[in-house]
Amino acid sequence: MTAEARAGQAFETAFGAAPDGIVFAPGRVNLIGDHVDYNDGLVLPMPLALGTAVAWRRTAQPGFAALAADYPGTPYRFDSAAAPPAGDGWHSMVHGMAALLHEDSPFEGGLELAIAGNLPRGSGLSSSASLCIATGRAIMAAGHAADTSPRRLALIAQQVEHRFAGVACGIMDQMVIAAGRPGAAMLLDCRTLEHSHVALPADWSVLVIQSGVVRELVEGAYNTRRAQCESAARKLGLASLRDVDPSGLDVTRLDSVEARRARHVVTEIERTRQAAAAIAAQDIATLGVLMREAHASMRDLFEASHPEVDRQVALINAAIGPAGGARITGGGFGGAIVAILEAAAEPDVLAALRRAGIGAGESAEAVSRACP
Ligand code: GLA
Repeated sequence: MTAEARAGQAFETAFGAAPDGIVFAPGRVNLIGDHVDYNDGLVLPMPLALGTAVAWRRTAQPGFAALAADYPGTPYRFDSAAAPPAGDGWHSMVHGMAALLHEDSPFEGGLELAIAGNLPRGSGLSSSASLCIATGRAIMAAGHAADTSPRRLALIAQQVEHRFAGVACGIMDQMVIAAGRPGAAMLLDCRTLEHSHVALPADWSVLVIQSGVVRELVEGAYNTRRAQCESAARKLGLASLRDVDPSGLDVTRLDSVEARRARHVVTEIERTRQAAAAIAAQDIATLGVLMREAHASMRDLFEASHPEVDRQVALINAAIGPAGGARITGGGFGGAIVAILEAAAEPDVLAALRRAGIGAGESAEAVSRACP
């Protein structure tokens, strides 16, 4: 059953009536450019076919009632003018979106919401940003009067992570979920939010493979990485690592950890620029080289990979050969692997993964595709 159908069904069961509408927001996979968004750099993410659906109905009575199909229980009732609970659970995300939209412009009347998603959690595919954007879309579809641009929605969803979930995330996930296009990567400048859409050649495949290593309690490691990057930029006398001249990174003022972090960020921004050009030129071999380099940099310089993921990435790269490549994607420390290959090679590569026990069971969630 689709996420939309599940959301609709959960809505009727909980609220005893059909919803007024159902909205959807995808998850995202980042092709290249990780841990550079909060350094004002360039990223190249893409929307997924998997995501979050929210069924909604406007009520005359004020107040919100929300339930999540995957977490059975009575609806969570809240007032959008009240502060949301802290944490990264779905209550905080949904309430947080309603509260921040309310700050923009109070919502007249009330809203019932039922949520259903099919993104694996803790896998680096942005299930929480997807939930936030889907909730925001439902509130806007119900007639919320504030600025409803995708950019505004993305910035509000990022604030929810910062203020209520305690994750000092960048803007990549929210922007591509709110403003990405199916079948295209978004080359996003995280400093200005300017972006262009880079269509993937129709005969390429983008696979998202679950490593099976579930990330847990990584907010601390993520926030530490961000602090290390910011400290490096400060010591270099720059607003952010984006401002480093790639040919002249001078690490003498940095400690050894900061030097590794800065090298990752500076080289990753260049790789992202080159990867967008390689996709536009349909040059899958160059893209494959860049993806392998990006994985090594996440592993050795940013130290945000995981030994089991490294093992799987090496196997997948061997199966793909020179026409494409694979790397860890997203925040890291486990989670998902992204692989780009020629569509014609997909059956052979999938067979090799099955033999190696990668992408366990090949269920819809274990191996999925970027938004076709
Ligand atoms: C997480 C964050 C993003 C980004 C990535 C790493 O997904 O939410 O803002 O920093 O990690 O690229």
